[in-house]
Amino acid sequence: MKGWMGKIKALALMSFMAVLLTGCGKENLTALVPKGYGAEESMKLIILTTVIMGGVFLVVIVVLAYVLIRFRRKKGQENYIPKQVEGSKTLETIWTIIPIILVIIMAVPTTLISFDLADASDSKDHINIDVTGNQYWWHFNYQDEDIQTSQDLYIPVGEKVYLNMISSDVIHSFWVPSISGKMDVNPENTNTMYIEAYEEGVYWGKCAELCGPSHSLMDFKVIVVSKEEYEQWVADMKNYDPEKDEPESAVAKEGKDLFEENNCMACHAIGSSPVEVGPNLTNFGNRTKIAGFKEPTKENLVDWLKDPEEIKPGNLMTGKYPQLNDDEAEKIAEYLMQLKVTDVTPESVNN
Ligand code: CUA
Repeated sequence: MKGWMGKIKALALMSFMAVLLTGCGKENLTALVPKGYGAEESMKLIILTTVIMGGVFLVVIVVLAYVLIRFRRKKGQENYIPKQVEGSKTLETIWTIIPIILVIIMAVPTTLISFDLADASDSKDHINIDVTGNQYWWHFNYQDEDIQTSQDLYIPVGEKVYLNMISSDVIHSFWVPSISGKMDVNPENTNTMYIEAYEEGVYWGKCAELCGPSHSLMDFKVIVVSKEEYEQWVADMKNYDPEKDEPESAVAKEGKDLFEENNCMACHAIGSSPVEVGPNLTNFGNRTKIAGFKEPTKENLVDWLKDPEEIKPGNLMTGKYPQLNDDEAEKIAEYLMQLKVTDVTPESVNN
């Protein structure tokens, strides 16, 4: 009786988890609704492998059920020993060859697609972006345009975009489930992958390699805009001159002074400066999130500035500047929130 209760409990728990996990899918954070080339190719592989594995499962279950029923011990045959087939060459050959064929059917397209996605032979004719993974944020350098940005990656719809990926510290993995496959980001070599999005929208990106205590918070976004919007965004980002940009409000002006006094510029750049110890803040006011995953409100930013460790354990900003009081944090937040250089923002994108 006890054994049965355990089994029932386990079954109930599994059903509950299945229902719970199915609810986890967000439309712009799922490999099951592909909105880009890499994701679409991955989806084909998912279907192929699922069909093959489902087929194998079905065949095994049918054969097993047949054997269980057909060869049940019958009355009067208690001591009957059926024909022994151990070591049968025919059977051994069959169940060695069939799996090999199945593995080849899955391995060939997987290998072809992996090489295709990493093929950078025509990268010169397309947009090239250097991607750097850092504990726990992403830096993007648009090679040809000399634009530096962090966390929000803007790309045009329907165009190949080449990503040259490296890490500044440990191994991370770049993954935008709706658009691309995964690519490891290593400290010692550059990996290349191209992405192509089919629809405009804001897509969630994740770090898919355990990289430290805030690994699960190492989120970013890919913002897919029309070609015209992309050109506008590039022009606005290129033309932005931080020297000429004075905050309008008095509070933001004080915030800017505090930002400079606390030496924030040692790690953070505004404009296309090559400093990338910390995230580039040029279009901070347009960001989809604060610290990668918090809603972009001033309150959240104040909390972050006052105690980043509380929000993102293990981040490298903690302890790099004097403790801010409420007033100072408010003013710096006011300054950062008004750093908006373009009208092409995640909100302007058709979602
Ligand atoms: Cu970076 Cu996990």
